Amino acid sequence: CKEFPVIIVVVGASGDLAHKKTLPALFSLYYHNMLPYCFAVVGYARSKLSTEAFRDVVVSNLVCRTVDRDHCEPKMNSFLERCFYFSGQYDSLQDWQTFDRWLSEDIEVRLRSSTYEGRCSQRASGRLFYLAIPPSVFADTLRGIRHGAMAREQLGAWTRVIVEKPFGRDTESYMALRDVVAECFPEEAIYRIDHYVGKPLVANLTTLRLGNFVFDALWNRHCIESVQVVFKEDFGAEGRAGYFDAYGIIRDILQNHLLQVMSIIAMDPPASPLAGDINEAKLRLLYDMKPLHAKDFIVGQYDRYRSERGVPKDSCTPTFAACVVQIDNERWRGVPFVMLAGKALDERKVYVKVAFRETSNQSFVPEELRNKRNTFYIEIQPRPAVELSFITKTPDLEGRVVQTKLDLVYNESFVVEAQDMPDAYERLISDSIVGDRTLFISDAQISRAWELFDPALKELERDPPTQPVIYPYGSKGPILPETLIKKYMAGKMGD
Ligand code: BG6
Repeated sequence: CKEFPVIIVVVGASGDLAHKKTLPALFSLYYHNMLPYCFAVVGYARSKLSTEAFRDVVVSNLVCRTVDRDHCEPKMNSFLERCFYFSGQYDSLQDWQTFDRWLSEDIEVRLRSSTYEGRCSQRASGRLFYLAIPPSVFADTLRGIRHGAMAREQLGAWTRVIVEKPFGRDTESYMALRDVVAECFPEEAIYRIDHYVGKPLVANLTTLRLGNFVFDALWNRHCIESVQVVFKEDFGAEGRAGYFDAYGIIRDILQNHLLQVMSIIAMDPPASPLAGDINEAKLRLLYDMKPLHAKDFIVGQYDRYRSERGVPKDSCTPTFAACVVQIDNERWRGVPFVMLAGKALDERKVYVKVAFRETSNQSFVPEELRNKRNTFYIEIQPRPAVELSFITKTPDLEGRVVQTKLDLVYNESFVVEAQDMPDAYERLISDSIVGDRTLFISDAQISRAWELFDPALKELERDPPTQPVIYPYGSKGPILPETLIKKYMAGKMGD
C-alpha cells in the first residue's frame, strides 16, 4: 500500500542508535523505493535543534551502499527534505499534544500536498514511533504517545510502536514494563525488535531448514549430535561500560539474540510461514527448554575489564558466558545445545554449527577422520554463508579420504557488491510499515526467556557473586564450545 501516507517518528532522535542505525536504515529503504510514496521522518528528542541542524547531523551518518554516487546524492537530498525535527520532553503530555498538532497541521498537510505528486491517498497518516530511548524514559514516552499523539484511527490510520531491548533485566522488571505497554497499546501495535532476527541469514533459517528435504528429514536427535550457537566479538565493553556492567553478557546477548536464533533452529515445524504460526512454534520450543542454573554455565571476564572507565574495581559482571541448554521434547531430548557469547575474544564472528552423528559403519572413514562429523555451518556474520562439510575421496590415483565442504557464500552467489546486503534494521522497519510481524518478538516469548534465565542469573549474582574466570583480551576465552560439549557428555558440568 505505497499510497498510504506514513510518518515515522524517531523518538530519541539525537542519540546514537538513531544516528547510527535507524536513520541510515530509513534512508536505505527510501533509496531502494521500499518506503511509501508519502512519508516523513520526524525526529523527537529533548535537545534543542532546528530542522536544518537535525538534517546536518542526519546527512553526516548516511551512506550510499551503492557505488553510483551520482544517483545516490540527489536521493540523499530528497530524503533530507522529508526529515523534520521537534524538540520536546518525554514526560510532558503538553509537548506530545503540541507535537500532535504540528504533525496534523503541518507535516500531514505537506504530505497531502502536490510536493508528493498527488500519489498519496488522502486518508490520515499512519504513525510509526521508533523508540530509540533509554529504559528510564520508556514509560513516560509510551504514555505521552498514547494520550497525546495517536494517529487518527477514525480516519483509518494506524499507530505502531517499535521497541528494542533491554526489555527489563529480569522477570520482575519486565512485568512492570509490560504493564505500562499493555496499559497504552494492544499487543498488535507493538513491534519488539531483536535485530539478530532481522539479519539475512537468520531470516533465512526457517526456509533453509524446512524448505529442504535433506535438512528437514535429519533435524532431530537421531541424526544430530550437538548444536552450537556462538557469538564472538573482538572488542570489549569500551564506551558502554555503564550499561554493560549493569546487564552483563547473559542479558546482553544470550537471553535475547542467541536464544532467538536457537529457537528458530530448534522449533518444531510451524504450520505455515505466517507470523502467528512461527511465533507459536518458537514459544512452544521455549517451554520445552529447561530453565538454566548456575551449574550450566561457565562465566568469564576479560582481564582489562575492571580497569575500564565506569566499571567498579570488584565487578563480577561476565563478559563471556557459555552454557548447555537441554530441550525436553521428542525431537531433541539428550542433544546438547551450546550457547556461547564473549566480548574481547580473538575474532568477530557469529555462527551456528550443527554436528550430525557418525555413520553406522565407520570402516569407510579412516582412523584420523573418525572424530570429524558432517556439519552444517551457518555463518551469520561477518561473511554470511552456509557450508556443509562431508567426507570424500580425492580424484587422484592416491584416492585419499578427506573432509571437504559445499558452500554458499552470500556475497559471491547473490550480490555483486558486498554493500548491497540489507542491514537488519532495514528489513525490520520495512516489515513494521507493512504490518508483517513474522520477525518480531512476542510478549510471551520475552516473559518465557526471562523465566529460563532468571534462576541462573540469581544464583550467579547472589552474595558473594560467582567469580568469573579471567581471560586475556583477544584470546579464545575460557572455554571452547567443543570442550563444553565434551564436558557435558562426560557428565562433568558444574565441576
Ligand atoms: C547489541 C548488544 O544488542 O548487539 C551489543 O547490546 C553487541 O553488546 C551488539 O555489540 C552486536 O550486534 P551486531 O549486529 O553488531 O552483531
